[in-house]
Amino acid sequence: MKTIIEPFKIKSVEPLRFTSREEREAILKEAGYNLFNIQADDVLIDLLTDSGTAAMSAHQWGGMIEGDEAYAGSKSFSRLEKTVKGLTGFRHIIPTHQGRAAEKILFNIVGGQDKIVPNNTHFDTTRANVEISGAEAVDLPVPEGLNPTLIADFKGNMDLDALESLLQRKGPEQIPLVMLTVTNNANAGQPVSMDNIRKTAQLCRAHGIPFFLDACRFAENAYFIKIREPGYEKKSIREIAREMFSYADGCTMSGKKDGLVNMGGFLAVNDDQLARRARNILIVTEGFPTYGGLAGHDLEAFARGLDEVLEEDYLTYRIRSVSYLGKQIDQLGAPIFQPPGGHAIYIDAKAFLSHIPPHQYPGQALACELYLCGGIRACEIGSVMFGKTDSKSGEFEPARLEMVRLAIPRRVYTQSHMDFVVECIEAVFRKRDKIKGLHMVYEPPVLRHFTAQFESL
Ligand SMILES: Cc1ncc(COP(=O)(O)O)c(C=O)c1O
Repeated sequence: MKTIIEPFKIKSVEPLRFTSREEREAILKEAGYNLFNIQADDVLIDLLTDSGTAAMSAHQWGGMIEGDEAYAGSKSFSRLEKTVKGLTGFRHIIPTHQGRAAEKILFNIVGGQDKIVPNNTHFDTTRANVEISGAEAVDLPVPEGLNPTLIADFKGNMDLDALESLLQRKGPEQIPLVMLTVTNNANAGQPVSMDNIRKTAQLCRAHGIPFFLDACRFAENAYFIKIREPGYEKKSIREIAREMFSYADGCTMSGKKDGLVNMGGFLAVNDDQLARRARNILIVTEGFPTYGGLAGHDLEAFARGLDEVLEEDYLTYRIRSVSYLGKQIDQLGAPIFQPPGGHAIYIDAKAFLSHIPPHQYPGQALACELYLCGGIRACEIGSVMFGKTDSKSGEFEPARLEMVRLAIPRRVYTQSHMDFVVECIEAVFRKRDKIKGLHMVYEPPVLRHFTAQFESL
């Protein structure tokens, strides 16, 4: 069947507010052409992020009522712990309020001056937590992962030759662990193959270095392995996920993605010493080890979400609907990062608006235009986020790619919402030659994309 049918019925709805183009023009101007400054109520279709934006199931909401709010020894934590141990096989499960809290604890312990942490590609919070500890974050993506038009199955993979050479040069004294992000969010949500996970683990073991997964989107990655990697067609998603985790010594997890919850995360490790140190930090920064910054009802919903995300009908719908959006945009002739990843479509703004130079922020200009056209909120991942102006020479250093990310919240929008998004992209694509760039009039000192202000040129 061609039609992608949502594997759920809708029991509770949230109305959307429609605005006119004139209203959106005024809203955007008032927001300094920064979509982070726009009220959610003024957005029709919110594709800013897939993080913490999932719709929970009736089963999860039921669990919220049953959540055990005991400070110590909460039954809901025991359920989460049992679920995560069953899924990952790790010995110690340390709950945190979200993924970056797990990263902070981990790199607080293993990071520090002169240390180096390799990853296929660090997500921005992972990089920030590595760097804040004093360590260096090194990205080692496979070269094909950097080519937006190339169609390949596992463009999220780690470059094993580059990793081996780094491990040989630096060794366990300088490299406290190697991380692999599945799927590779910072590289367009591209998946990592089981073969690559296994070989990364083997290299780490050969050099006596622990191997960790950044597992936020482990289920989407497992689904790609099932449909793309020979030998996995007949395995269940749970079996594939278990195998992925079996090669690792631990993981960080943001439940706001494949946990299907609005808040939650954990750090999981096998090493008893590391777990003891992590729990000591946890008590100071997050809370007691049986709640770690979460309410009992969050723990309960998280445990249930981790089971639901493994359902194959759900994952088929999820990956097919992201790919549907990508294919429709591609058929317009509009350039996207190929092939569609697990959680988002990335429009290549440099090719879409080839007349706008990087220092006039083509990605931001395109994101603003999508908002003006239909109230769609997307996220620029380009020179606003990663570009720099050299403080001495005043020279502008653009980002490697100019992308606009359309991240799809889980179980929130239907196919007709996506058809509307495609219609807007088509309208914007037709008049692309008339779209103007932007000038940054306020640049904050850190993470500038969140609060920068612009003027239209
Ligand atoms: C790959 C990856 N790692 C870590 C994080 C951080 O998770 P959180 O937002 O829960 O802190 C994210 C969030 O988007 C992510 O995509």
